[in-house]
Amino acid sequence: MNAPHRWLQNNPGLGDGPIPVEPYISPEYYKREQEKIFSKVWLCVGREQELPKAGDYKVKRLDAAKTSVILMRGKDMRIRAFHNACAHRGNTVVTETGEETFGASKAAIVTCRFHGWVYGADGALKLVPQESNFYDCFRKEDNGLAPIHVDTWEGFIFVNVAQTPDATLAEFLGEYAGHFAGFPFDKLSYEFTYRTYLDCNWKVAHDAFAEAYHVETIHAGSFPNAFCGGLENVKLMGPHRTSAVCLTLGATPTAVATLANSLAQGSLVAVRGESMLPPTLNPDHRPNFAFELSVLFPNTLIHVSEGIWFTHQFWPMGHNKTLWEGRYYVAPPTSYSQRWALEHAMTLQRNAWLEDTATMEDTQRAMESGAKPFQNLQDDEILIRHGAHVVDTYVNA
Ligand code: FES
Ligand SMILES: [Fe+2]
Repeated sequence: MNAPHRWLQNNPGLGDGPIPVEPYISPEYYKREQEKIFSKVWLCVGREQELPKAGDYKVKRLDAAKTSVILMRGKDMRIRAFHNACAHRGNTVVTETGEETFGASKAAIVTCRFHGWVYGADGALKLVPQESNFYDCFRKEDNGLAPIHVDTWEGFIFVNVAQTPDATLAEFLGEYAGHFAGFPFDKLSYEFTYRTYLDCNWKVAHDAFAEAYHVETIHAGSFPNAFCGGLENVKLMGPHRTSAVCLTLGATPTAVATLANSLAQGSLVAVRGESMLPPTLNPDHRPNFAFELSVLFPNTLIHVSEGIWFTHQFWPMGHNKTLWEGRYYVAPPTSYSQRWALEHAMTLQRNAWLEDTATMEDTQRAMESGAKPFQNLQDDEILIRHGAHVVDTYVNA
């Protein structure tokens, strides 16, 4: 029997009072988040495997940090990051074609579409058409792309748009990095991605994924009687947080799910081994451990289990507009039957994510009505309480 209110007992500094709704609905509060959080801290913007070759590049729009970032691998195989802004008349150098834009250049260059200025993977301005028409004061060497701080951890690429970041990536990740060190993120490289725009604050989306209390109700269709509603092994690590979600072991899989699970370990609703888990994960070796649910502050959730990992990211585009991206990774299939089994797992996960995202716009509308200025959180919603506390601390710093 677990002690009642055990997470608050472990973290009394977070308080037990209701949480204000204002930070979810206020345009002014969002402006401060842009300035004090998204323009200051390290943000996870991709995986190294997305840029395997020299000259590969990716553009990621970061509305919350008021920029668009070019990530490019140079011929020296280093990944560098730059603001996607041309020194000529300010156009984006690489035209964005969606939420993420990918490209490849054998010469490791990018060319601005407007008047053809060419930049190298080191950011240097290499070529200006009709250069002699510019005046003597113009110097190519002073007009490269504006660099952005970039670093990597376990194959994840992070950027920090601050001129001088307050912390290195390693300092920012702190204990969180050690918690997941050694998990084979790279080997589980077969990916599927879903994304959608939601008319809700980014924290509404975060909160809906940062607890298991909703599973019995919201996921009664996709995951009937599959997961426990509480959390285990909650650990707060600076601005980051983690916990374990467990199985009830009471679910009755359908015949199709049983067949899929026997072919490939792609579904979360199955008892899993521990061979891939670092010792920090499921330290008590719970037989019903399902997955680690962690929040890498501010907007990335990383979940890890034997043979599976998945992320959620919430990209604010306004105080009540968010781009949500869900990514799920497993080992690449080695047969058609495994490919089918993974398709089954993927569809199940998609349905569950549709169930999750379907609550978010309703929550935002109800919050904006002003009828309920506070939310009441229970003990197993401690990750949400911690999230609200951390955001408020940054915003008021
Ligand atoms: S704005 Fe880029 S070349 Fe003119
Ligand atoms: Fe959910």
